[in-house]
Amino acid sequence: MDLFEYQARDMFEAHGVPVLAGIVAETVEEARAAAAMIGALSGGVVVVKAQVKVGGRGKAGGVKVAKSADEAAEAAAQILGMDIKGHTVHKVMIAAGAQIEEEYYFSVLLDRANRSYLAMASKEGGVEIEVLAVERPEALARIPVDPIVGIDAAKAKEIVDAANFDEDVKGQIADAIQKLWAVYRDEDATLVEVNPLVKTADGRIVALDGKVTLDDNAGFRHPAHALLEDQASADPLEAAAKAKGLNYVKLDGSVGIIGNGAGLMMSTLDCVAYAGEEFGGPGNHPEPANFLDIGGGASAEVMTNGLEIILGDEQVKSVFVNVFGGITSCDAVANGIVGALSILGDTATKPLVVRLDGNNVDEGRRILAEAAHPLVTVEETMDGAARKAAELASAANKN
Ligand SMILES: Nc1ncnc2c1ncn2[C@@H]1O[C@H](COP(=O)(O)OP(=O)(O)OP(=O)(O)O)[C@@H](O)[C@H]1O
Ligand SMILES: [Mg+2]
Repeated sequence: MDLFEYQARDMFEAHGVPVLAGIVAETVEEARAAAAMIGALSGGVVVVKAQVKVGGRGKAGGVKVAKSADEAAEAAAQILGMDIKGHTVHKVMIAAGAQIEEEYYFSVLLDRANRSYLAMASKEGGVEIEVLAVERPEALARIPVDPIVGIDAAKAKEIVDAANFDEDVKGQIADAIQKLWAVYRDEDATLVEVNPLVKTADGRIVALDGKVTLDDNAGFRHPAHALLEDQASADPLEAAAKAKGLNYVKLDGSVGIIGNGAGLMMSTLDCVAYAGEEFGGPGNHPEPANFLDIGGGASAEVMTNGLEIILGDEQVKSVFVNVFGGITSCDAVANGIVGALSILGDTATKPLVVRLDGNNVDEGRRILAEAAHPLVTVEETMDGAARKAAELASAANKN
């Protein structure tokens, strides 16, 4: 999960990284009030910054200096609702204005290729660091960080020396990057980046911008991280699926897909997309509407939860359940489907095409045949089932 800048700022502050005052605002009036408060602390000057999870906000006009609360309100009015590289701005951060003397760069990240962590630092921050890295790689120091040792005082010294920071700021930067390391380690991040890390006119080192990516696999160790999720832009069905521990992704067609295992899901999507070409037409897209990976379990409860979510997507016109019984046996899946349909009752109204194969397939098919539910069609092959599901969705789209 990527954090917004204001969330990264708060996280930095909690770990003792020097940051400026900042308050997030969602409306022009909130921005005006925040600017009045922050301006009082920073000599009146504030910066209004678009909060979007994409780089290059400044260049896109999403970072504006304001010299009064009114100016800040005006800037917020311009920035809120703005589109930056496909991201709509719903929030701005009002930050204290800094008098910048120099802009530096620092990051620490997971270096997958080398199975290690990597710290990067440069005296020439603020600009597009990707360009610097390509055009003058020598200006960007890259220092491997041992995951066990991390960035201790000695490693911090090695980094500031390698980046060749001026002597008068080396100590402060070394201190700041040890604290940024604490953010990285203690929050289970895969990226902590500060661009720019600035030296102010009064000689202080401050993190002016912050980018943090948290490792979702470590989420169970950080219950509080759930609060950082961006509810506003999350798809409600995706959120509901997540709450039930299901892996669901919304797509754009009209065939809902339930399967087990990432590999089978991928090929199912391809099969349905292919079949969709045959049955589709203008305004009629019998292609994948979503996919839901039920993983190893296929109890009636998991199947009910899964079907509820898939059927909750109003774009869905038919559902393709494609399960290969490995650890899960097909009779359990079949019972899950029958049980789910009886729990859902009248709320299940869309046709289901089921393809089962693998462990205990004969018993699974027998259970479905015996139940003879009017919404369920059983197909033997994956291609046949994909065609059937696309055909049914296409017919429903035409109605
Ligand atoms: N609080 C501040 N006070 C003064 N100047 C600022 C402040 N925040 C940002 N700036 C100036 O604006 C520039 C861009 O800000 P920032 O780095 O936050 O956004 P960005 O780099 O455009 O966005 P991103 O990091 O998402 O690409 C900074 O390099 C700095 O010169
Ligand atoms: Mg930046």
